[in-house]
Amino acid sequence: MRIVLGVGGGIAAYKAASLLRLFTESGHDVTVIPTEAATRFVGTATWEALSGNPVSNSVWDDVDKVNHVRLGHEADLIVIAPATADVLARAAAGLANDLLTGTLLMARGAVVMAPAMHTEMWQHAATRANVRTLRSRGVTVIEPASGRLTGTDSGPGRLPEPAAIYAAALDAVHPPAGDGALRGKRVTISVGGTREALDPVRFLGNRSSGKQGMALAEAALARGAHVTLVLAHAEVPPPQGCDVVRVESALQLRDAVLAALPATDVLVMAAAVADFRPAEVVGTKIKKSDDGAGPVITLVRNPDVLREAVLAREGRTEPLVIAGFAAETGDPTADPLTHARAKLARKGCDFLVLNVVGRELVFGADSNEVTILDADGSEAAAVRGTKRVVADAVMDHAAHLLSP
Ligand code: CTP
Repeated sequence: MRIVLGVGGGIAAYKAASLLRLFTESGHDVTVIPTEAATRFVGTATWEALSGNPVSNSVWDDVDKVNHVRLGHEADLIVIAPATADVLARAAAGLANDLLTGTLLMARGAVVMAPAMHTEMWQHAATRANVRTLRSRGVTVIEPASGRLTGTDSGPGRLPEPAAIYAAALDAVHPPAGDGALRGKRVTISVGGTREALDPVRFLGNRSSGKQGMALAEAALARGAHVTLVLAHAEVPPPQGCDVVRVESALQLRDAVLAALPATDVLVMAAAVADFRPAEVVGTKIKKSDDGAGPVITLVRNPDVLREAVLAREGRTEPLVIAGFAAETGDPTADPLTHARAKLARKGCDFLVLNVVGRELVFGADSNEVTILDADGSEAAAVRGTKRVVADAVMDHAAHLLSP
C-alpha cells in the first residue's frame, strides 16, 4: 500500500516514528509529511531515514512534481498522527496552506486521524465541531486515549498507542464490519496453547501466546464475520465481539471445534495443539518419593484436530474452508516448503500458513513472515509483517476461496 503519514506539531510526534516502523516493516511504502511545527519536535532527517523516502512540508519544493496532487492521488491511506487541534481545524475548514492539508484535499483513499492535545482543547466546542465535520465526510477520527499529558495535566487527549492507530488504519482501508468480504460468514478460530493435565496442579503446556489467533479474530471481525474463538491458554485477551468457548486440553479443543463445525464457514486452526498427553491423569497430587527417583510419565498421541475436521467435512454440501498453520525450520532431509507441502497433503486442508521459524525479524515476537500454500502445494501469497498483516492475508484468502 502507498501510505502518507502526516505528522502534526505536538510532543507525541516522536511516537509517529514507531507507527512509521509498523507500516514500513509490513512492506508498505510510506511518505511522511510533517507540518512545519512538527519538524521542531522531530527533524526531517529522522523521517527520511525511517521511511526511505524524501520528506518535505512545503508545496514550494519540487514544484514541477506537483507533490500534493501526486501524493493525494496515489495514497491508499493517509494517516495523521498526532493530529493536533490546529491540523483538525485546517482539515475541517478545507485549507490548503501547506503540503499536508493540500494533499488531504486531493485524497482518494482512506483518511485516518489520531488526535493528541490537552483535554481542554479536545473538549472545546470548536474542536468538537471540527471532529464532527471530518467524520461526516468519512474521515476516521480515532478517540484519543486518556492519561498523563505533556505537563502535569491528565485526561483524554493522549495519542493512542502506535499499534492501536495501525489497527484502526488497516480497518479503515479494509471495508469495515457489516459490509466486508466475510459479511455474515461464520468463522471459527482455534487459539492459544493446550494444557495437558498430569495431576490436579500440573500440566504439560507450550509457549503459544495466542497473539496470531487474536489478530485473526480481529481481521475476521473487520470483514463482517461472526467469530467463534475456541480458546485454549493465551497471554492476550480476545477482542470484543467474539463468542468464546474456553478449553484446556487437546481433547476438549477437538470436541469444541467439531461441535462448532456444522455452523462454520471458515475454520482456521491457529492453536498450538499438544501432539501428546499423559496416558493417565493422576487424581491426586503426585508426591516426591523417598528414594529420590522421579516419576515416569507415559505419553499417548492426541487426535489431529485439523485432520478430523477435514474428515468431518466429507459429504457436506455447504462450503467450508479449512486452514492450518505450520511452523517449520527445515532440516538436512528437506527445506521448510517441502515439509509444509507434505503436511498439507497429510492434513488435507484447503490452505496452510507456513511460518518459517528460526529467522531473525526486526519486530521479533510481534512480526511474522509466512507463505500461504494452497491445497495443490502452490504458493498463493508471501506475507511479511505484523501478526495483523498476516491475519488480514489469511482472512482475505479464506474469503476468496469461499466465494471465488
Ligand atoms: N493441529 C491439530 N491437532 C493436533 C496438532 C496440530 O489440529 N493434534 C493443527 C494445528 O492447529 C496447526 C497444524 O495442525 O494448524 C499444525 O500441524 P502439526 O502437524 O501439529 O504441526 P507440527 O506440530 O509442527 O507437526 P510436526 O511436529 O509433525 O512437524
